[in-house]
This record gives sequence, structure tokens and C-alpha cells, in this order.
Amino acid sequence: MASHYPPGWLDELRSRSDLVQTVSGYVSLKKNGKKYWGLCPFHGEKTASFSVDGEQQLYYCFGCKAGGNVFTFIMDMEHLSFQEAVEMLAERARMPLPQMIHDEDYQRRRTQRERLLAANREAARFYHQTLFTPTGAESLAYLRKRGLSDGVIRKFGLGAAPAEWDKLTKELLGKGFSPEELSLAGLTVIKPEEPATENTPARPRRMFDMFRNRAIFPIIDAYGNVLGFGGRILGKGEPKYLNTSDTPVFNKRKGVFAANLLRKERHLDRVILTEGYMDVISLTQFGVKGVCATLGTALTNEQARLMKRYAPEVWLSYDGDSAGQHAILRGLDILKEEGVPARVLDFPDGLDPDEFIRRDGAEGFAKLKSVTPETYRIRRLMDTLDLSSQEGKVSFARQAIAIIAPLDPVEREGYLKSLSLRTGFSDQVLRQQLAQEVRNQGLAEKSASPAPRAASRAPADPLSAVSVTLAEPDGAAPSKGKSSVPDEAVRARTVAQEQLLSLAATGLLPEDLVEEEDFEGSELKYIFQDLKKGATPASLIDRAPDAESRSRLTRLLMAPVAEGTDSMISMAQDCLASIRSGRLQEKIKEIETRAQNCTDVAERMGYMMELTNLYQKLDKEKQA
Ligand code: UTP
Ligand code: MN
Repeated sequence: MASHYPPGWLDELRSRSDLVQTVSGYVSLKKNGKKYWGLCPFHGEKTASFSVDGEQQLYYCFGCKAGGNVFTFIMDMEHLSFQEAVEMLAERARMPLPQMIHDEDYQRRRTQRERLLAANREAARFYHQTLFTPTGAESLAYLRKRGLSDGVIRKFGLGAAPAEWDKLTKELLGKGFSPEELSLAGLTVIKPEEPATENTPARPRRMFDMFRNRAIFPIIDAYGNVLGFGGRILGKGEPKYLNTSDTPVFNKRKGVFAANLLRKERHLDRVILTEGYMDVISLTQFGVKGVCATLGTALTNEQARLMKRYAPEVWLSYDGDSAGQHAILRGLDILKEEGVPARVLDFPDGLDPDEFIRRDGAEGFAKLKSVTPETYRIRRLMDTLDLSSQEGKVSFARQAIAIIAPLDPVEREGYLKSLSLRTGFSDQVLRQQLAQEVRNQGLAEKSASPAPRAASRAPADPLSAVSVTLAEPDGAAPSKGKSSVPDEAVRARTVAQEQLLSLAATGLLPEDLVEEEDFEGSELKYIFQDLKKGATPASLIDRAPDAESRSRLTRLLMAPVAEGTDSMISMAQDCLASIRSGRLQEKIKEIETRAQNCTDVAERMGYMMELTNLYQKLDKEKQA
């Protein structure tokens, strides 16, 4: 969650955006003890396990482990990026954004953006109203012929562009928009003035509408801004869809169609990504939730990241024709690149989702099984190879094994079985081939236990390691690279260090009680240093790289601590004693081993003295 906002400004915004008050706007909270409790807005539940700590300005759900500060709450609640959440809270708190104060260029771009969005909004309203007048009758008939209900036409704000040359342009000029603004928004085409030639008289500058005699599909972003339009020809002709080209407010590679509807959905377990406007609208009309579409281009990385915000998985639901199949393979690559778990809905008979759901209905759609990327890739392989020939079988087995090699052993199992059935190769031969492929791809053979999700996804960031080092709340061993069973003593010490950090986070311990050296994991030390420098616990959350480490860090910073400063101090002393004596014992063991393996007498003497020293220190610790 890197941000370019000055830290001081962010602290100010945080302090003006009270968490209890903010959460209360979404969840009804009751005070119980020091904390507020309510039903968690991030997962369905009947008993309140969502807690808000007004002092620490942190929240944590004991049910789904969602945790964080006021920024992350707004991000998750409103499906916003960090920057967008900051902007929203700044607006509520009436704090001008730092760049608005200083940057004139930013100011200018911002006002231009607002003007263009206003023009688009007016245009969308105009098209939609026209649809229900005689001018729009042909478009309306077309949309109805395609099976769209009036309800879904309204839901998507569909419209009609009149057949006349400049009806919209005149309308918007009349509302005070300049020709330049309309041209920048992609609504109006301007033909410059032409001087007279021998054969033709001079012509003045002319303006006409970009969209004429087409059914209009407004492209609306997650916040309800109209970014642009797609216009479908009413019948045959080229281009089938005319789209707003990129403008200062619209980039077709960054957005998806129907983002506004995605954002309103709660608890989606997958986003369905289609290729076309009509696919989204049809599926929605048949009751399918969470559908969107790319805007006439192949899936981009930005779009993959955007969809990740709305659901844990993306299901590619492209046309069943060969172009669609190709696009699925490319789309799977992009989703993988962005770490978005994916599945594929494979439509039969070359149909697109719109055609399929009209033919087979909502039940037919619900019965359609989504498949894993690997199953999909293997299916496509089977289409291209001749499995009746020996050559075909060899090639198939080889390529299929290359596809499943990166999976966990348990995941591969089913594929290996069916591969053996399809090719007639023995299980043993296939496994040999697999072992070779694993080496070829440079994959380390994984253990059968699935790795924790966060660990495999965590980007390189000092705090990302928090998710791996911090002990699990239920006392399970933290998984740490190869050595999955950590030394019991090390674990106990980690727990003590975490508790110590929780106590330090209250800000109530005496200044010199705890030292940096008491934390050996660099992450815990890092957090402690920042707390010591005066950072609030809530501000530390902004640096957590993902939801998982954010959750653990929140749990740590909010951990229930003793009542009263005195008992906190004595708890901290207990932690310190166990940490410090634990470390001494480790050191003693290490020196003892060295002494045993040492042949040089002088060196051995040195070790003995060091040991005596350490034993004395240990005694002192134990008495303390
Ligand atoms: P398709 O050609 O598959 O159209 O293009 P469709 O979605 O099935 O539309 P209908 O059912 O024939 O009306 C898929 C998407 O590609 C973009 C559009 O976004 C369309 O929805 N496209 C297609 C264009 O932008 N321009 C075109 O000329 C054609
Ligand atoms: Mn179609």
C-alpha cells in the first residue's frame, strides 16, 4: 500500500477520521468492555465477532480475521484502492488533498476531468431518454428483439443515438459545454474549416455526433462515472460496435464494462469475465451476478488487478469459438501473472454466453461446470492432437505433463490418472516423465501440504515476512521455508515477543523497559522501532503488503492486554525474562558445542570463560 502522501498529512487524516464513527456508518456497534462489537460486514454472520478498538483505531473480526485501520476498512467496504479510500475520507473530513494545494497542473486536469465526465453524464441521459421517444424507436425495437427486458435496459442505462447529424452536439452546446470539450470526450467530431478551392466554396467548421443511429451502451466505472460509450449498429454493417476511443477520462485497457454493478455486489465468490456487452447484459437479465466484460481488447494486467478487488476468483467466460478459445489461453496467462486464481466456463457448440443462456436458460448456465486452467488447457490440447496415433499420444502426454508440473502433488493426482487412461501409458512412466519435467521447468519438488496462501503471494517487502514469522493464533507451528517444525523454544520466544509488542503498542510501558534487541525477528523489531519513534499502531497497518499480514499485525496490535498499567508492566517483565533467558540458553548451547569440538587448548579456555559469564547472566535473569 505504498502511498505518495506525506506521512504527516496521512496521520492528520487518520486522526480526523474516527474509526468507530466510520464503521458505525455501515455496522451497528455496541460497546462492551473497552471495545465496540457488531456483525462483521465482510462475511455473513449471526453473532457479533467484529470488534473495533477506539483507542488503537483498529478493527478485527474473530470470525473471518479481517483486520486493519480506517483506510483498509473503507478500501474493503467500498472496494477502493488505497488512494481512492484516502480521497474519500479526505473529502468527508473536508481536508484538501496535498497535491490539490500545490499542483496547478493537477488542478487543471481535475477540472477538465470533471467537465468531461459531466458531458458524458449528460450524453448518457440524453441517449437513454431518446430510447423511449419516437426517435429511439428503432433502437428500442432492436434491443427488445435481442430479448432484453425493460428492466435490464434501465439497469444498464442503455440508449439510442438519433440518426440525425448533430442532435446530441446541439443539446450539449446548449448546456454550456464547449466544442473542444465535446470533442475531447469523444462525443463530437469536429471537421475543421476548409478554405475555398477552384471548384469548391469555403466551408466553415462543422460538427457532428460521433454516434448516430446506434443502440448505446454506456461504460460506467465503479463510482458511477460515465467514461465512454459503445454503440451497436442496428442490423448488419461495419463496425458492429463503435466505441469511444481513449480520452482523458477513458482508457479501454484499464476498465471493464459493468464495473458499477460489480462494486455493488457483496460477498461475490467469483467474477465472471465475458467478451461482450451483450453477454454481460443477458447473463445479468437471467440472474447471474458479478458479470463484467473487457472492452473489445484482450485481457490486460490492469483489468486482472481490478477484478481481484471484487472476488477471490475470476472465471473466464469467453465465446466458444476458436477466437474465444485462444483468448482464454492468453487470459489465463495474464491472470496467473497477477496471481489471480482462475477458472474457465467452456461454452459448447461455439456459442457465446449470451447465446448459450438464451438457448439453455439460467438452469443450463448453472449446470455448466467451471474447470481449472489445467483441465482447460489439456482439453484444448486434445482438440489439436490425434490421440489415435502413437505419436499423438506421446505428444499429448508430454505437453499435458508440462501443464500440470507446477501443481501440488495432490492436485496432480487426478490428472495423472486420466492421462494414463487416455494414453495407455503406465502410471509409473508418467511419473518418471513428470519428475523430468519438474526438473526441466526448474521447479523444486513441493511437499504435499498446501502452502499457506499469503506466503506464496507475499511481495518482497520487509513486512511481508510478518505473515510467516508470527505465530498462528491457535498455536499451530508457523511454516517457515524448509524447516517446517521450529524448535519449541524458538516458538515460545516468538509468542513472548509478540505479547511484548502488544504491550508496547499500548504506549503504557516505561520508556527503557523494552529494548530493540529483545526482538530477534527483523519484522517485530521494525514494528517496535516505529512504535518507539511515536508511530500509532493504526499507521503501521498501511505498510502491510496483503490482507493476511494485515490481519496478523492487527491481531497483534489489538491483542487483549492486562487491565491497568501495573499488571501490564509485570506481564512485560515476564515476557522479557523468558525472551532474555531463552536467548542466553541458546547461546550457552552453541558455545558448549563449539567447546566440545575444539582441540586448541587456549581457545577452549576462552570458551569456558565465556560460558561462566553466560551462566552468571542467566542466574541473574532467573532471579529478576
Ligand atoms: P462480438 O463480435 O463477439 O460481439 O464482440 P457480441 O458481443 O457477440 O455482440 P452481438 O451479440 O453480436 O451484438 C465482442 C466484443 O468485442 C467488441 C465489443 O466490446 C463486443 O461486445 N467489439 C466487437 C468492438 O468493439 N467492435 C466491433 O466491431 C466488434
Ligand atoms: Mn453475441
